Amino acid sequence: MPKITYVDADGTEHPVDAKTGVSLMETAIANNIDGIEAECGGSCMCATCHCFIEGDWSAKLPAMESEEDEMLGFAAEERRDSSRLSCQIKVTDDMEGMVVHLPAEQN
Ligand code: FES
Repeated sequence: MPKITYVDADGTEHPVDAKTGVSLMETAIANNIDGIEAECGGSCMCATCHCFIEGDWSAKLPAMESEEDEMLGFAAEERRDSSRLSCQIKVTDDMEGMVVHLPAEQN
């Protein structure tokens, strides 16, 4: 159960004990974290689970598939190098300490 910290756009931190094997999106929803809407339920079809992965963590994650890459173009908040769709990232034990920033808006 790695500890992952979600950070709201206003800087409020939400450390959670994440379950391995579920997505960063599902982890946020299960912990009542606002800022992830996930309208499509994790099907990579809405971009309302947009997040920004802090620092070097971005490079440690599996590369994104083309569907995620395309869908990020529809994100409400401008895409950055650290942008990912949280429904496409599965939690693993080596994510201990990872920090995930949330955009101010998802729609
Ligand atoms: S939940 Fe819709 S793209 Fe991630």
